[in-house]
Amino acid sequence: MATSGKGLEHVVLGDSSLTLVAGETGGLSYRGFDIGELVPRASYEGVVHLLLWGEPPARDPPERLSAELRERRIVPHALARRMEAVPPGLPPLEAMRSLLSLLGSPEWRYPPTDEQGLDLIAKTPTILAQYVRRSSGRAPLPDRPELGHVAHFLYQLTGEVPPAAKARALEQYCIMLADHGMNASTFALRIVISTQSDLISGAVAALGALKGPAHGGAPSKVADMLDAVGTPENAERWVEAALGRKERLMGFGHRAYKTEDPRAVLLKQIAKEIADPERLRVAEAVERAGVAALQRKRPEARLFLNVEFYGAVVLEAVGLPRELFTPTFAVARTAGWAAHAKEQSQDNRLIRPDVRYTGPAPGRGWPASPA
Ligand code: COA
Repeated sequence: MATSGKGLEHVVLGDSSLTLVAGETGGLSYRGFDIGELVPRASYEGVVHLLLWGEPPARDPPERLSAELRERRIVPHALARRMEAVPPGLPPLEAMRSLLSLLGSPEWRYPPTDEQGLDLIAKTPTILAQYVRRSSGRAPLPDRPELGHVAHFLYQLTGEVPPAAKARALEQYCIMLADHGMNASTFALRIVISTQSDLISGAVAALGALKGPAHGGAPSKVADMLDAVGTPENAERWVEAALGRKERLMGFGHRAYKTEDPRAVLLKQIAKEIADPERLRVAEAVERAGVAALQRKRPEARLFLNVEFYGAVVLEAVGLPRELFTPTFAVARTAGWAAHAKEQSQDNRLIRPDVRYTGPAPGRGWPASPA
């Protein structure tokens, strides 16, 4: 049997025409559009169009798709009632796992359809925001049709129409997080779809994979780290002490990128525009100290900033509490999940790898039961 690196490193699962992650050079593009081209120009809706149908919309934001997402984001009464089965007060990510699963119904059969994909993308932010409001005793807000997909999500969470700069910053974050090749959550989803199971089951599996700190669970820990560092002057000492305790620095290192994650570069620019200057100074000091220390201690590992580092600073600056950082990542990633589910189903074969057995040789005898 062919063997592979632990963690399936460098293993090629198959073909995909969605996203190119060029880890050695720090490149990222969706269907041939560089992330540096998309972030300043595209809308999130435009990126959904690109990922799902392979081409950019004729005009961005796409009128028809935006209207469709707007319609689909409204949660019908019966579905809202079903969602009430999830008790208030859970950590939002735990709640989201159950809410997502309730979003599906027996009609959501394999193969996934575009309509189901759009429903997943449109309704995920609404059901999350409505849950967060219900947990703090607040009623759902009336829809504001003039707000785009991401601005509307922020409005539902904060209860206020967000200032344009904050709404756009979150939209740019969501564009950057919309897809990322064969990341762990997408792999989990594609395994589920490959068994001819439904899209929601795939999304629930994906969310479970996203939760861990090695994937999407890191940004709140980045914010905790910045709190613990406290001042720029303390960064070097704190980083040395953390690495001395064999801890991992959150927001550093990536399986694919062996240079700076291009999203980290773009998010830093956004953070410079909207973050609290003091917070930014601490983040920049931790970045400098972290990159220098990791370079000194583990040069061969080539560890740089990843998307979560300045992602956390941006999410904080747009006013989101840390328990919503990973759920917001998931909201952004629904576009990639829907597109990967579609791609998997269009040329499907069961994903079922092998494993090298290292247990005892067969032929052992079972202990006799007492007479
Ligand atoms: N801080 C300190 N050391 C790190 C590190 C970090 N953030 N990331 C990797 N390393 C070290 C590991 O300790 C390991 O050393 P070892 O061989 O002595 O154990 C080496 O670099 C390789 O790490 P490995 O875990 O094999 O790399 P990976 O590709 O499997 O992991 C991550 C990638 C993202 C899971 C990893 O870099 C990490 O844990 N980062 C921190 C969490 C984070 O930012 N998550 C968000 C990811 S987008």
